[in-house]
Amino acid sequence: VEGDGTRVFTLRMQRGRSDFGASRPTPTWGFDGDYLGPTLRAEIGEKVRVEVTNAVGETSTVHWHGMHLPPEMDGGPHQPIAHGATWKPHWTIDQPASTLWYHPHPHGQTAAHVRRGLAGMFLLDDPAAKTHDGTLPRTYGVDDVPLIVQDVSLEDDGRLVETPSLLSSIGLLGDTVLVNGTPGPYVDVTAERTRFRVLNASSARTYTFVFSDGREFHQVATDGGLVPSPVPLRDLVLSPGERAEIVVGMTAGERTVLRSAPTPDRLGPRNRLAGDEDHLDVLELRAATRLSASAPLPRRLAPAPDVDPGDAVRTRRFSVGSQTINGRRMDMDRIDAQVEAGSTEIWDLSSDDGGPHNFHVHDVQFRVLDVGGEKPVAALHGWKDTVLVRPGRDVRVAVRFNLPPGAAGDDGAPYMFHCHLLRHEDSGAMGQFVVV
Ligand code: C2O
Ligand code: CU
Repeated sequence: VEGDGTRVFTLRMQRGRSDFGASRPTPTWGFDGDYLGPTLRAEIGEKVRVEVTNAVGETSTVHWHGMHLPPEMDGGPHQPIAHGATWKPHWTIDQPASTLWYHPHPHGQTAAHVRRGLAGMFLLDDPAAKTHDGTLPRTYGVDDVPLIVQDVSLEDDGRLVETPSLLSSIGLLGDTVLVNGTPGPYVDVTAERTRFRVLNASSARTYTFVFSDGREFHQVATDGGLVPSPVPLRDLVLSPGERAEIVVGMTAGERTVLRSAPTPDRLGPRNRLAGDEDHLDVLELRAATRLSASAPLPRRLAPAPDVDPGDAVRTRRFSVGSQTINGRRMDMDRIDAQVEAGSTEIWDLSSDDGGPHNFHVHDVQFRVLDVGGEKPVAALHGWKDTVLVRPGRDVRVAVRFNLPPGAAGDDGAPYMFHCHLLRHEDSGAMGQFVVV
């Protein structure tokens, strides 16, 4: 922390090697290490600056996914960091406590750079405890555990498979699940209740998380913060880029396995090629023979997202294909939407091609109004920045586009919206908006 109170982080994007269980080490990329990156953590209201040095040998960027910040600090394709250069974005944290993340976003190369290992979590805390964040499990690495979930496939010589199957348009689905970069992972559970901050950092796979014994758990947060009250669940669907915080209760000595269950037709008719029928073990939970006591879950967690669709000044439609949005491929020189600062809009999201997609909007957190014409399930009642868009089930979201602290409006650089299936994003399913 500097004299003026700015919290400073340094990150170095570098090459490394990881042991993923192949006969030889896997060449990987990481921030400050061989794979993934450190968890960054800041408080609401705090000024932050990150000094990112690129040493991977290729131009890249670092995007703060879910963060409300000025467009030139966003780390999208307009803020390239050349090999050897250092980029120093800075902003003030102005949004609820939440589990955000960071990853590269170079135009056309996002899938490759993320898949090689450049990803990390960025947690925001609420020191004033205006919400009930402070009464949830919160000892990092003990009863508050980040889970970065990715699927990879390895060549015989240990290298990461980088070319997607020609059969599937969805992108690369792996056969090995890594959690925090570890194959075959387990966690020693030491408390009666453990909070897991689950990030789907995979490039294409949508997971339906269940426990092997079918146990119930509670979702306490979505992408952008706590939900109004804990949501009891037995399965949780996360598409690429989405996060959920869940609280899992265990009794002494027991074991259970977090899995991704096969859910045929989840992503649309016959989407076996999108991984709908795959069964993957994700993480084994091993409870100690004595567990520390945990506080009961609070009944109320946070106010519901206060975006009123009645305030919307317009509706925009976005139809997402595997290479286009509204039939157009991403153009770095074209602004697709100009939004008035402070205004609320309804964005109506659909699949253009009968395949599954999702939709991520930079800078904002939105409220899901309906999915396929029906009220959203409780697990979608909190702030979201990424949402699954299944074929035939349009999603309507309400978004308020506030200017972040320090932004003048029309600062020049645009923000992105895109499909977060990274192959689609890289192939052109992305557009640009400005807030003026
Ligand atoms: Cu997580 Cu535009 O990305
Ligand atoms: Cu897509």
